[in-house]
Amino acid sequence: MPPRNHKDWTKEPRVEYINSLIYSDHSLYEQEQENIFSKVWVPICHKSELSEAGKFKTTSVAGKLVIAINNGDYIQGYINTGKYTTPSGSMSRVEFLMEDFVKLHTEVKHGGMVWVTLDPNPTQSVDEWTGGAFDCIAAAIDTEEMEVFHYHKAVIDTNYKLWHDTNSEFYHDFMHYFNRVSGFNDEYFARKNIPFDNGHVNVSSFTVNYEEYDGFEDRGELSFPNLPPNQWYMVDLFPGYNFNLRGSAYRSDSVTPLGPNKVLIEFRGYGLMKDTPEERQTRIKHHNSIWGPFGRNLHEDLIGVAGQGTTMREGTEPRNILHGRHENGTIHDEVGMRHYYAEWSKWMGVEASSPKSLAA
Ligand SMILES: [Fe+2]
Repeated sequence: MPPRNHKDWTKEPRVEYINSLIYSDHSLYEQEQENIFSKVWVPICHKSELSEAGKFKTTSVAGKLVIAINNGDYIQGYINTGKYTTPSGSMSRVEFLMEDFVKLHTEVKHGGMVWVTLDPNPTQSVDEWTGGAFDCIAAAIDTEEMEVFHYHKAVIDTNYKLWHDTNSEFYHDFMHYFNRVSGFNDEYFARKNIPFDNGHVNVSSFTVNYEEYDGFEDRGELSFPNLPPNQWYMVDLFPGYNFNLRGSAYRSDSVTPLGPNKVLIEFRGYGLMKDTPEERQTRIKHHNSIWGPFGRNLHEDLIGVAGQGTTMREGTEPRNILHGRHENGTIHDEVGMRHYYAEWSKWMGVEASSPKSLAA
């Protein structure tokens, strides 16, 4: 085949593809806030962060200020319609604001996550929305109470969907030094991407050989309940929430889009409430050595999506991005990407492959 030129790369491909305008266009970003983030269920924090009556957490959803409060009997989410904001803390600091608060539909589900939706009349419960995507890890995250032991956030100059993508496509695993050393066994390549209703996907498990990596140890002893030793599962939830169970530690990622080329990502790490201090220290070490800000995996993903963000920032030339890899649903098959962008197209009322009619 002769070398391809610019004309070849910009013409319509013959296989499944999307157009990179969906990552760079300001008008599409605004419509995503309206059409998607104002409608879906959003996991905003974990109930262990609201462990006592009066504790609250704040965040924003689709540009609106949102607060979740432990009112003593249950956790309730509100939208703050006033102009005063306050960081997370205890109730006495927000009481004077309550008249500006409007109740949101709120549920605590799937390992104790606190979910809210801005939709005043949601047609689905959280369980109906997630549609079975958590079944693969339910026995691990719902048997014992979990507790957040780690939180950090990153504001990255990239589109929030590129964070979804890095959690969905696995051919970029070759970028990860730790995965190259410990992960690429036959089981790794055989595992499947399994699509669920509403754009969600989960990635089935395999055994990670932690001892292949210098200074790392087997993690079987502290495996989450009902999880075979050193297993790894992931749930990718539309439109950008990710749940990652790596044997002895659990991680959740939540995205808050701040612009077509800016996203806030919040990372939480979880252990079990019943952990002894020694067990907790080991879990924290297991979590941070892979997923902490100085860990062996997470920052490589952040560098990756920051690079993609640079090439797909506002004003760059749109190009077509292929999602045509079919490998019987196994790990490098792009079924997860196709499934996600089919859902995105449905909510946006425009095909991800030809979004020009909605673009600025
Ligand atoms: Fe990655």
